Amino acid sequence: MVPLIVSSMQDIGANNMQDEGQKSGIDKKRRHFLTAAATVVGGAGILATAVPFVSTLSPSAKTKAIGGPVEVDIDGMKPGEMKIVKWRGKPVWILRRSEASVEDLSGMTDLLRDPDSEVDQQPEYAKNGYRSVKPEYLVLVGLCTHLGCSPNYLASNEAHDFGADWKGGFFCPCHGSKFDLAGRVYKGVPAPANLVVPKYQFISKTKILIGDDSGSGELGASS
Ligand code: FES
Repeated sequence: MVPLIVSSMQDIGANNMQDEGQKSGIDKKRRHFLTAAATVVGGAGILATAVPFVSTLSPSAKTKAIGGPVEVDIDGMKPGEMKIVKWRGKPVWILRRSEASVEDLSGMTDLLRDPDSEVDQQPEYAKNGYRSVKPEYLVLVGLCTHLGCSPNYLASNEAHDFGADWKGGFFCPCHGSKFDLAGRVYKGVPAPANLVVPKYQFISKTKILIGDDSGSGELGASS
């Protein structure tokens, strides 16, 4: 009996050991499972924390890419000189007009389809004889109002075969539309409207902010 008992004890011990072994195997498996689960949960936690961060960044990055204002330094620009910047994926022209070009604008009326900018193609502060905040500086979206080509800038001192009334301006070679040095469309061309003036402001004497007319920048030209 004793051996049996011993045996039984041994069996029991063995069984216990086996149980313990199984248990520890189970525990190990369980531990592995829990560790893996914790890793997944931890990873998910990191992801959960990371995703809002990424999604917080994404819209502003996208916003910046598609529509943020663009600052342009106009210091040192000479009369007749034009700068081109990109805003919202479009070319924006900043042209410094000469005094003579500014004076010429008032004599163009009969040649133009919308000389007084009645069609809403500019902010209110650019609805004047110059279509600009300051007479000297013209700011335009450089896309033709016909089918969206980008017209060429033809300076006032260049000779072109557009007749004696031509005082410089913009010519769209796609279908022959012409615009004066305020971006006003000529009569009898395919383009239906004046070139668009974007919103903008002078944030200092030498800096223009394209795409933003809020805040304390200078707006509103003398007409
Ligand atoms: S796109 Fe400019 S004239 Fe047609």
